Amino acid sequence: MNSLLILPGDGIGPEVMAEVRRIIDWLGAKRGIAFEVSEDLVGGAAYDKYGTPLHDKTMAKAQEVDAVLLGAVGGPKYDQLPFAVKPERGLLRLRKEMDLYANLRPAQCFDALADFSSLKKDVVAGLDIMIVRELTGGVYFGEPRGIFTEGNERVGINTQRYSESEIARVSRSAFELARKRRNKVCSMEKANVMESGVLWREVVQKIRDEEYPDVELSHMYADNGAMQLVRWPKQFDVIVTDNLFGDILSDCAAMLTGSLGMLPSASLGAPMNNGRPKALYEPVHGSAPDIAGQGKANPIACILSFAMALRYSFDMGSEADRLEKAVEKVLADGVRTADLMGPEGGTPVSTAGMGDAILAALDASL
Ligand code: IPM
Ligand code: MG
Repeated sequence: MNSLLILPGDGIGPEVMAEVRRIIDWLGAKRGIAFEVSEDLVGGAAYDKYGTPLHDKTMAKAQEVDAVLLGAVGGPKYDQLPFAVKPERGLLRLRKEMDLYANLRPAQCFDALADFSSLKKDVVAGLDIMIVRELTGGVYFGEPRGIFTEGNERVGINTQRYSESEIARVSRSAFELARKRRNKVCSMEKANVMESGVLWREVVQKIRDEEYPDVELSHMYADNGAMQLVRWPKQFDVIVTDNLFGDILSDCAAMLTGSLGMLPSASLGAPMNNGRPKALYEPVHGSAPDIAGQGKANPIACILSFAMALRYSFDMGSEADRLEKAVEKVLADGVRTADLMGPEGGTPVSTAGMGDAILAALDASL
C-alpha cells in the first residue's frame, strides 16, 4: 500500500496540511486510491514534546515510507534556542539522512494570478520554470563550520564544498527533467570567484557532453542569474544550482508567480528497493507565524506539493493533473485567500474555504 508520513510542523503548517488530508480522503472515497497515513511532529512542535526538532523514531519512520509530506518549521518562540535544536535542524536532518540531493522547485504563473506579481504582467504571464537546487551539500553542511576564537576575536566559519559525484548526480536530475520539458538547462554558480564553482561548471558540462548531448546547456554566474530572473524569466526552462544559491534564487523565482503561498517543492534522492525515489514534499513558504492559527493561510502550495508526490512518488500523473487543474479552475473562478487579494479588494476565503472550493472542483472533474 502507498505509505505517507505527514509532518505538519509549526505555524501555518498544521492548518494547510489539514486541507491536504481532506484531498487524501477524497482520493480514497472517490477514486479508490488508499494511502496508509501516519503523522508525527517536526520542528518546534517536536522540540516542545521531545526536546529535539526531530525524534529518532520519526527519522526512522521517514526512511521507511514511500513519501514524507512536511508543512513548515520554525517560529519566533524558538529563535533563541541553540543552533543544534532549532526547528530548522529537524528539516535539515531529514534532507541529509534521507540523502535528498535534488530539490525541485517549479515556478509557474497561473493565468488568473499574472496581475499579482510585482513584475509587469507580460514578464510573468505563462511563466513555467523549474529550479533544481542541490540540497545535501555545499555551505549548508560543509566542514569545518562553527564560531572559533582567533587571537582576541571570534570568527564564524562555514565551508562551501562540492565533490564531483555530488555535482554529477544533481545535474543528471536537471537534464532528465529538461528532456520532459523544453530541453534547456542553465547552470548557475560563481566560477569567477569560487573554485567550487569552477568544478561545478566543469562537471555539469561534462555530464551534458557525455550523457545528454541533446539537451541545450548554458552557464551563468549566479548574480547575473538573479538579475535575469527578474528581467526576463521566460528565457529559462530548468535552472540547476547549488544549495545556497538555490535557496536564494528559488525565493526570487517564487515571487515572480505572485505569492509564496502558491509554490510546491519535491526533494528527491536515490531510488529505494521498491524503485521509488526517497522523497519529501513541502511548500516553499515558511511557517508564517504572523497569521498562524487564524485560518488565513493559503493551502495551495501544500496541496500542490501533494500533487508532486502523486506524480513523482506514486506514479499517478493523471491524478496529479486532475488536482492541479482543480486548483487552476478555482483560481480562474476568482476564489482567493487573503495573500491573493489584489488592490481592488474583495472577500477572501479561509484556509478551509479554499479547501472546500478545490474539493468541489475535484468532484466536478469526475
Ligand atoms: C528553504 C528554507 C530552508 C533552507 C530553511 C527553513 C532551513 O529556507 O527550504 O528554502 O534554508 O533551506
Ligand atoms: Mg529558503
